[in-house]
Amino acid sequence: MKERSVLINPSILASDFSDIRSTLELISSLDLDYVHLDVMDGSFVPNITFGPKFIKDIRKHSDLVFDAHLMIENPEKYVSAFSSAGCDIITVHKEATRHLNRVLNAIKEEGKEAGVAINPSTSVVEIENDLSLVDYVLVMSVNPGFGGQAFIPQSLKKIKQLDEIRESEGYEFRIMVDGGVGLRNHHAIREAGADILICGEAFFRCEDKSAFIEEMES
Ligand code: DX5
Ligand code: ZN
Repeated sequence: MKERSVLINPSILASDFSDIRSTLELISSLDLDYVHLDVMDGSFVPNITFGPKFIKDIRKHSDLVFDAHLMIENPEKYVSAFSSAGCDIITVHKEATRHLNRVLNAIKEEGKEAGVAINPSTSVVEIENDLSLVDYVLVMSVNPGFGGQAFIPQSLKKIKQLDEIRESEGYEFRIMVDGGVGLRNHHAIREAGADILICGEAFFRCEDKSAFIEEMES
């Protein structure tokens, strides 16, 4: 893997699912390491995408780090299915489970990296008790469910808070930011302390993807 100060993590939600193999090859050819897989159940969020079967099928065609963002109710029911499907990172929403600590431990027990995501209305303090356990914190900078929405500026404050807690407590989680991330706001997001920028529309709608990545990493 290339040493990078910030990781660009393309979200396939903005891509054509019928051409998924080319999409995965494209991401690898750009020397990126991660691909973000948005799983939606039509209940936690008002949209439906795909489940473990789809991930298992595409796993055969890619060695990218599979970063599954589960926007589903009661994710504890499906940890084992997403783990067996070949996800490397499994991120669950704080708002989707009554027992966050239990589900995060279940992910770790599967030998996977665990992430916790928070919606725009959820405060950092609500996940503070589990920050020593997680590998990633995903700050939703739009309301989850759809690509192409506008970045909510208040998210910057949460990224800074997380970065400060990480520093003061000596935690090692990485901060992912998801929703409306692109060339207009990447500097501010990184300055706030983010490590991984998830990009849907901004990445897939861009003609010159190498130039986009270079600019986002600058
Ligand atoms: C939204 C998803 C995001 C989405 C981001 O609920 O979690 O990953 O794909 O898309 P953009 O970058 O277009 O906002
Ligand atoms: Zn996502």
